[in-house]
Amino acid sequence: TSSEAGLKNASEFPIGTAINVNKLINDQALMALQISNFNSITATSDMKMQSILPAENQFNWKKADTLLYYATKHNQRLFGHNLIWHSSTPKWVEEKGAKDNIWLGKFMKEYIQKYVGRYKGKVAGWDVVNEAFESAGGEYRKTFWYNNLGKEYIANAFRYAHEADPDAVLFYNDFNIERDTTKLNAVLKMVEDFKKEGVPIHGIGFQMHIRMDTPDEAIAYSLKKAAATGLQIHLSEVDIIFNSHNDERLGGIEKYTSVTDEMKQAQAEKYKNLVLMYRSIVPKNQQFGITVWDFTDRDSWIKGFFNMKDWPTIYDENLKPKPAYFGFLEGL
Ligand code: XIL
Repeated sequence: TSSEAGLKNASEFPIGTAINVNKLINDQALMALQISNFNSITATSDMKMQSILPAENQFNWKKADTLLYYATKHNQRLFGHNLIWHSSTPKWVEEKGAKDNIWLGKFMKEYIQKYVGRYKGKVAGWDVVNEAFESAGGEYRKTFWYNNLGKEYIANAFRYAHEADPDAVLFYNDFNIERDTTKLNAVLKMVEDFKKEGVPIHGIGFQMHIRMDTPDEAIAYSLKKAAATGLQIHLSEVDIIFNSHNDERLGGIEKYTSVTDEMKQAQAEKYKNLVLMYRSIVPKNQQFGITVWDFTDRDSWIKGFFNMKDWPTIYDENLKPKPAYFGFLEGL
């Protein structure tokens, strides 16, 4: 397959990318690559609570609407990321909610119903709750939401979203579950409990922010276990780094400051294997798709977030397809 044909044309399941809305619509070259390769799109941050509701009663739908317009125009699936995430809770919500838990419970319900209701039938699926477990191990993360509403906030968020759009595919999304078995088991236990209690959950999102040294065996094992739930499986935020960072995300550990051809080839293999594992392990009717988190090394969040050099994506700094791109393509 030639690279012009694009990833999406080689795939039987949706191929997505997350992107910053303003960056996308102001960069013709980026847009052309986005359109040729992807048929699913997610906002990196523009649809999080901090963007949607930065101040009380001040809903800001502009970027989400822009993305919806774009997705519709280019025949792409719009995926919603995310409804509840501790890292994107506006300050004003934290201040008010900590003083008044009754208000907070009502606020969460109204926010989700208003938001999901507004995009009913337009947003295909949602990451309803993001990262509710500790980075490592099987404990619930003691977030603002957990501390003020108890673990029931998670089930409730799914109930409210389902009421607002019964057709939307609802995901629980997290990282490290491809390699931390204790964490994966805790997530799967929650999923089983939800199923028993009739809580509407339809999918598990593996963020898949992985590293070159994440063992493929661990990824295969985790996908198999998660797929056994029968739920949709989304690789929701794929990127592959050479360097590392600690799990509390306090900064990068910069082992490599430049990238060699050999490293690029190894990364291509890793991308290819990931796609192949997804295709061979996850049953077809559970393949929600593979989404990469930004698709160029120029735009990737890794550099800024962990303050380190890296080359996590499938296009390079100059928007040229990397070996990783062709590895991905070969895996499809
Ligand atoms: C990241 C964005 O890419 C950054 O631009 C932002 O500064 C922080 O959030 N897990 C997630 C995503 O679920 O929402 C995060 O996105 C990356 C880690």
